[in-house]
Amino acid sequence: MERTLVLLKPDAVERRLIGRILAIYEEKGLNITALRMLKPTREIAEVHYQEHRDKPFFSELVAFLTRGKVCALIIEGENVVKTVRKINGATDPAEAEAGTIRGRFALSKGENLVHASDSVDSAEREIAIWFPGLAD
Ligand code: RTP
Ligand code: MG
Repeated sequence: MERTLVLLKPDAVERRLIGRILAIYEEKGLNITALRMLKPTREIAEVHYQEHRDKPFFSELVAFLTRGKVCALIIEGENVVKTVRKINGATDPAEAEAGTIRGRFALSKGENLVHASDSVDSAEREIAIWFPGLAD
């Protein structure tokens, strides 16, 4: 079964949206198979977002992800990588469809509540970062 790595970012935790967001994934019929709350270290945030290390927003992105606790999840299901990205919506909430998590609950591109892996390969790389005991 395909799996993906999801983060409910610090803004989601601060705004007490964990329950509502988890319900959206569950109501779709996906299975949450691992869950942990942690305050990411700078190192973990930098490795997680390594593809963006040369972008102008990288330091802001790392500062944001490390400012408080996140809820890290593994979600499993058919076509889960693509499905969860669809449920999350476009990166910029202004572009996200109204029914998506970002479209419903977020306003800013920086604070857009959720992360999801963008491919099966990314998912396995990210699962190894956030759930080292559950890597393939
Ligand atoms: P994520 O990785 O968090 O699921 O988001 P994504 O795939 O939709 O977007 P990505 O391109 O991977 O960007 C990662 C995060 O960086 C922030 N960002 N800021 N200021 C900007 O132009 C900019 N571009 C991206 C966003 O918070 C995005 O979620
Ligand atoms: Mg991304």
